Amino acid sequence: MVLDSDVAFLDDLESEAEVLLERHLAAHKEWHPHTFVPWSRGRDFEDDYEWSPEETNLPVEIRSALFVNLLTEDNLPYYFRDIERMFGADGAWGTWVRRWTAEEGRHAVAIRDYLTVTRAVDPVVLERGRMAQMSGGEVPEPPTAADGMCYVTLQELATRISHRNTGRAIEPYDRVGYDIMRRVAVDENHHFLFYRDITKAGFERDPSQMVQALERQVTGFAMPGTGIPDFGAHSKAIANAGIYDFINHYEGILEPVVLGYWGLAELEGLDGDGEAARERLMKYITKTGRVASRMKERRAEKAAQAELVNAG
Ligand SMILES: [Fe+2]
Ligand SMILES: [Fe+2]
Repeated sequence: MVLDSDVAFLDDLESEAEVLLERHLAAHKEWHPHTFVPWSRGRDFEDDYEWSPEETNLPVEIRSALFVNLLTEDNLPYYFRDIERMFGADGAWGTWVRRWTAEEGRHAVAIRDYLTVTRAVDPVVLERGRMAQMSGGEVPEPPTAADGMCYVTLQELATRISHRNTGRAIEPYDRVGYDIMRRVAVDENHHFLFYRDITKAGFERDPSQMVQALERQVTGFAMPGTGIPDFGAHSKAIANAGIYDFINHYEGILEPVVLGYWGLAELEGLDGDGEAARERLMKYITKTGRVASRMKERRAEKAAQAELVNAG
């Protein structure tokens, strides 16, 4: 159930949600997972089948990314629960929530069929991972609608970046995997655009509430896959491969969206609590930017050293 304290805020934003929903539906191009999956590469699994890494030419870090990306998509029932709780089941909000759920479901179908047919990951580990993750039911639970809008904007964009970079990493090995991840990333981009703009409208209606929510969600941000078995180790592999890391997080999200599009530094009409939250958040983002640029320098140095070693 939507919080009583969120009812007026969500009502106030509903006409904007309707406009953005219409824009989303107009931009959406229907696509079918079955047309992307390379079925001719599939064959039956024998009863005593045991997967081994020789089945695939995809490197281990790409397999980590695909494993985490798919299990994240699989956890959809819990995201639906929270998104409907935050935004409600009625009117344009409810229509959006259900439509979004239907689109997300397609992603798991496409990625799972691809991985199963190509034998890119161990199907037993994958299924056990899904059971473990979903039985745990661990998902981020933003407390208010304002928190929810901020969180899902950050999360959809992070997911777009992660799917897109996974596709780019696959490209030299398998064009089909590249195409699937690219297509899924296009959907994530449209989800991001809906949330980015409804959040922007939220900032116009109630900047003080929104900036306090934003501070909580930026400083506490975690990807929605935290309940996946070995999530920490997989995340490290994904970051080391440059598929999703601290630099992406700063340069791809905090800088262009929080500072740029939402204009955190320029927000007007903040009360005392809002102003204090903005100050703390600006400091946090500045610090994050410094860490990201140091990481970038170190990475460039390492790459230059590796080049020298190769040349020698
Ligand atoms: Fe998705
Ligand atoms: Fe999405």
